[in-house]
Amino acid sequence: MAEIIDGKKIAEEIKLEIIQDTKVFKKTTGITPGLAVILVGGDPASQSYVASKGKACERMGFYSITEKLPADISESDLLACIDSLNRDPKIHGILVQLPLPKGLNEHRVIETIDPNKDVDGIHPMSIGKLVIGLDTFKSCTPAGIQEMLVRTGNDPSGKHVVVVGRSNIVGKPVANMLLQKQTGANAVVTVAHTGAADISKFTKQADILIAAIGKPEAITASMVREGVVVIDVGINRVEDASLPKGYRIVGDVHFESVSKIAKAISPVPGGVGLMTVAMLMKNTLRAARLNAKRAET
Ligand code: GUN
Repeated sequence: MAEIIDGKKIAEEIKLEIIQDTKVFKKTTGITPGLAVILVGGDPASQSYVASKGKACERMGFYSITEKLPADISESDLLACIDSLNRDPKIHGILVQLPLPKGLNEHRVIETIDPNKDVDGIHPMSIGKLVIGLDTFKSCTPAGIQEMLVRTGNDPSGKHVVVVGRSNIVGKPVANMLLQKQTGANAVVTVAHTGAADISKFTKQADILIAAIGKPEAITASMVREGVVVIDVGINRVEDASLPKGYRIVGDVHFESVSKIAKAISPVPGGVGLMTVAMLMKNTLRAARLNAKRAET
């Protein structure tokens, strides 16, 4: 049976570090880190993610606001909201919860965020710096994956990492992050995706498999080799009439079968999801720090 990579425990460790660092930062600078989260529309999963971000801010000792905007908001009104947060000195980080309702251009929206406040690490400036190995805000879910690997003794250096999925918020940034010639990275990375006739040809070669496909339990035991380390990024709702809420949450990996042959595996829930919030907190403190430094010069 595989060792469980406990995202809850690791996220808690990181949050305790941030609480301490925030106390020192507030004392020495008199500045309270501030995060603004923008939620457009009423998608239930997004509402719950946004609520957990607000709660985490409170615990860290941050100032936070949540802008809840209607699904039919015009793009120019949304951009005006971001622009006003860009200019708000109490706000050091801005996150626009994705996906956005249809009709809003995600790229234009993200590009409107001040790169100095891009604590989500998804602005083209942050992604560009990530790709060429410069210090920047790291996208939260990829950074969470990297921390999970490093803190459990599964350093990716020299390993073959296979990422399944090529999204802009997980697949592409995590692949780029782990291939850098840097500590906690330096992996040989393959990105497999729906363009492959048979993804198992690639997943079977993985020392470390990162599943970010968005399909419930798509990775099964026959698709991986014994001793693989698995990070499951999927958060899928599947109908389950036996439960009061009518659904349960599963990952992109068939946990029951894969956990029998893997060396280590992150569960869903209790895995990557909690790490994403912890890394967002870390980036928000970093944004406040950088802002204070810029003000000094
Ligand atoms: N929706 C799901 N994951 C994320 C994320 O990491 N950032 C944003 N902005 N939206 C998301």
